[in-house]
Amino acid sequence: MYNVQEIAPAIYWVGGTDKRLERFENMFPLPQGVAYNSYLIMDEKIALMDTVDSAISAQFLENIEHVLGGRTLDYLVVGHMEPDHCANIEELLRRYPELKIVGNKKTFQFMEQFYSFSKPDNYLIVKEGEELSLGEHTLRFMMAPFVHWPEVMFTYEVSKKILFSADAFGCFGSLSGNIFSDQTDFDGVYLEESRRYYSNIVGKYGPQVQNVLKKVAKQDIEMICPLHGPVWRENLSYILDRYQKWSAYQPEKRGVVLVYASMYGNTENVMNLIASKLSAKGVQDIRMYDVSKTHPSYIISDAWKFSHLVFGSPTYNLGLYHGMQALLHEMASLNLQNRKVSLVGNYTWANAAVREMTEILESMKKIEFVGEPFEINSALKPEQLPELDQLVEAIYASLNADAAEAAAAGAGATV
Ligand code: FEO
Repeated sequence: MYNVQEIAPAIYWVGGTDKRLERFENMFPLPQGVAYNSYLIMDEKIALMDTVDSAISAQFLENIEHVLGGRTLDYLVVGHMEPDHCANIEELLRRYPELKIVGNKKTFQFMEQFYSFSKPDNYLIVKEGEELSLGEHTLRFMMAPFVHWPEVMFTYEVSKKILFSADAFGCFGSLSGNIFSDQTDFDGVYLEESRRYYSNIVGKYGPQVQNVLKKVAKQDIEMICPLHGPVWRENLSYILDRYQKWSAYQPEKRGVVLVYASMYGNTENVMNLIASKLSAKGVQDIRMYDVSKTHPSYIISDAWKFSHLVFGSPTYNLGLYHGMQALLHEMASLNLQNRKVSLVGNYTWANAAVREMTEILESMKKIEFVGEPFEINSALKPEQLPELDQLVEAIYASLNADAAEAAAAGAGATV
């Protein structure tokens, strides 16, 4: 049965949710599923804003048929040519042969790469700032290259001041009837998944996000309709401010994330001690992860949030323990930068962990090392505790220095 919601007069959400998909892009766990949003604008001419993933095609097509009520579809705007939003283009062309597909040059290049049809007579190629009138509604196109694919295009609906923002401002997690963020406990339900989505999917492209945020700031926007997650109609600055911070690689919070690899618990023991000693000094909301236990996307999300990171790993096969190596390479690949970092190494006969961690971290921008790397030979010995205390003191001092700097800038001083 169709399941649609009118989100503004004559504008309908016609998307759906997939709670069964295990991993987004076959990589990122989806404990709460994912929503694929699509929007139908009813006017003299009717425009559909993107389609959905093949997993929910049947629901989606039924939704459209219901809202169309026997009318035909005039335009399909393809804001993002990734298959989780494009699986139904061919079927729509079959059902509505006169359909004009709206995109930019790259959109159609990718479309023909992914699918086996070529229908140039149906293509309407648009450029930055061009407009398409539907009657009372006018669509204005705004290129958003590399947020997070090169063909990405936002659309601004002029009469109702709605921004259709492709993947931007979206998140993991399904919708549960409440389409709007203000109908949900966004902080409790979606914020962490929003950050995990941003950092892992879009995080590499901070400068490109900053560019599009400048364009967005020039528009008078009353609603943001992303392709995943809730729609924003209130308190838009909440998500815009976070995108500003995330894309500038600014930590949201002064605090410590400890990430370790540990084969027999000895490196873990050092990390636990660092965490306890920091806690004893008053540091709150400390996060700690075992790379062999927690999916890297969650660790990366917290690395995006917090200012200070502590990595601990044993040497393995004369190199760095695989899980830690993969995580650090992924952080480097995502362009994570502007963080304070401390290192803990462990080795029994060959010493490579600290060296390899340092090499990867030095390849990243604006990484400041805090304290001397702390190393153990197989297990921590009591005589090393003063040295460990020095590292803890250095991390604590760095947190306080950041707090003092923030206080001077008027942003509060507590760690
Ligand atoms: Fe939701 Fe980049 O696809």
